[in-house]
Amino acid sequence: MSHPHTPVSSRNLPPIPGPLSAEIRGQILALWPRYPSKQAVTLPALHLVQDSLRCVPNWAVEEIADILDLSPAEVHDTMSFYGFFRTEADRLGVKRLWVCRSLACSLRGADELLEKTAALLGVPVGGTTADGAITLELAECLGACEGAPACMIDDEHVHDICDMTKMTELVTRLKQSSANKH
Ligand code: FES
Repeated sequence: MSHPHTPVSSRNLPPIPGPLSAEIRGQILALWPRYPSKQAVTLPALHLVQDSLRCVPNWAVEEIADILDLSPAEVHDTMSFYGFFRTEADRLGVKRLWVCRSLACSLRGADELLEKTAALLGVPVGGTTADGAITLELAECLGACEGAPACMIDDEHVHDICDMTKMTELVTRLKQSSANKH
């Protein structure tokens, strides 16, 4: 579903303080029995950190390396091999808004929907709104082709038959819920 990310950093963001919470450290440690080696835990550990912090700060790379008995360079290599991890300066918004542009959606106006959504948010694909509420993402088929064009919030809520009226309502809702969290 994800696509190679082009870093888009336009926000002036405060640093995220470390260290990792006891909860995340515990979740990483709990992964060990399920993987053949500590090295194999690197990828899911990076996901856990990004899900929680919306990025993987450098200090978190060092902490993951420390927990897994690896060098920070090894963790960093894994992080940069995949296009979907964000640095602290380029962190994700509170919510990710995925717009599908695979065939069925494309045939039903997804390109225009994406273009107008980017204009509504004031960011390119991969970018995050200045208030930190929403990151716009490009998705491959979301499995809702019969309701094309489709979009999705984070990895869970798929919305079908998206037009700009629906998209504008969705964006307003996401921005409000993000503002309530600050
Ligand atoms: S092509 Fe968009 S949901 Fe399948």
